[in-house]
Amino acid sequence: SIVPVLLSGGSGTRLWPLSRKSYPKQFAPLLGDLTLFQQAALRFAPDASQAGASPAFSAPLVVTGSDFRFIVVEQLAELGIDPGAVIIEPEGRNTAPAILTAAFYLMARDPDAIMLVAPSDHAIPDALAFREAVGRGLPAVEKGRIVTFGITPDRAETGYGYVELGARPAASEGPVDLVRFVEKPDSARAEAMCASGNFLWNAGIFLARAADMVEAFRLHAPDVVDPVAEALKKATADLGFLRLAPEEYARVPSISVDYAVMEKADNLAVVPFSAGWSDLGGWDAVWREQGADADGVALTGPAEAIGCTDTLLRAESDAQVLVGIGLDNIVAVAMPDAVLVAPKDRAQDVKLAVELLKKRG
Ligand code: GDD
Ligand code: MG
Repeated sequence: SIVPVLLSGGSGTRLWPLSRKSYPKQFAPLLGDLTLFQQAALRFAPDASQAGASPAFSAPLVVTGSDFRFIVVEQLAELGIDPGAVIIEPEGRNTAPAILTAAFYLMARDPDAIMLVAPSDHAIPDALAFREAVGRGLPAVEKGRIVTFGITPDRAETGYGYVELGARPAASEGPVDLVRFVEKPDSARAEAMCASGNFLWNAGIFLARAADMVEAFRLHAPDVVDPVAEALKKATADLGFLRLAPEEYARVPSISVDYAVMEKADNLAVVPFSAGWSDLGGWDAVWREQGADADGVALTGPAEAIGCTDTLLRAESDAQVLVGIGLDNIVAVAMPDAVLVAPKDRAQDVKLAVELLKKRG
């Protein structure tokens, strides 16, 4: 069976003020009743597999930050999911070290282990369709490939990775070998890749044998390998958590798996996925996913819009009503202690606000 590796250590600063350092976006109910982390866990839960229709999943392995360890356990318990293990990073070093840690851990227990790296900031409305896509990736995994999942782009997004198809896949089939992986291009390159019709977005979900993942790191990111191996070797068991050794982990370069490995690897394949996927990276994405009315207005909590268009109004406190009048292309998010107002097309700049506030202390 496949082990879901739930990555949930990101800080989600672009969703401030809902997302906070001590309680980032993946642990908040952003869309629907469940948190994004819970949605990710449920998507690949052990008993989620329908007989014959999709592959079987084992108990998940969670890699997260020290501050979030109890939130993780609590949120899984609410769903009745028992984590196979929770690995704690003393500090976040981005996704490459987190994924390599998981790969080492799994490989040590089963040399043939297959891992599914699952970020916890996605909306995938049709989970069954995605599990089936995972199943379609398995033949490529057997051949030693690292499988990515490709989404047909509908805009020249610069916040995603792009994968170039080696050949046109037969409708909804796959996997197809990749020619190239390009992480977060500038807008000119993103435009060109969208126009070419030969690129898909990288969904950020990776399927591979743990041993092949480790091998890819050895080949393409050797500087990450030794400190991660050391941090895991000297890890301490702590109340059911496995805590990586802080001194060793501090020596690990902070880099994403996309730059460290995927852009360089030549054994990538992609399974196209067309049933709906979104990275809820910013308030513009939340607006898009939430389902706005005919005027493009999306409301959450005690919020009212009068004559507004293409606007997100989100009130997080019942003690405070949020009203917009005549707004166009605006996001407004009101928390009890902080309010954000910005043009929707500058939603990505929210991280600048967070940096500014951090500097001010
Ligand atoms: N444990 C742990 N530790 N998790 C982390 C860390 C870390 O240091 N940093 C990030 N994560 C988690 C985040 O919580 C998120 O669930 C996931 O890893 C991905 O990180 P993001 O920071 O959200 O990546 P991204 O969205 O900018 O880019 C990636 O995903 C895109 C699609 O969603 C890339 O893979 C892109 O190529 C891809 O298009
Ligand atoms: Mg993301």
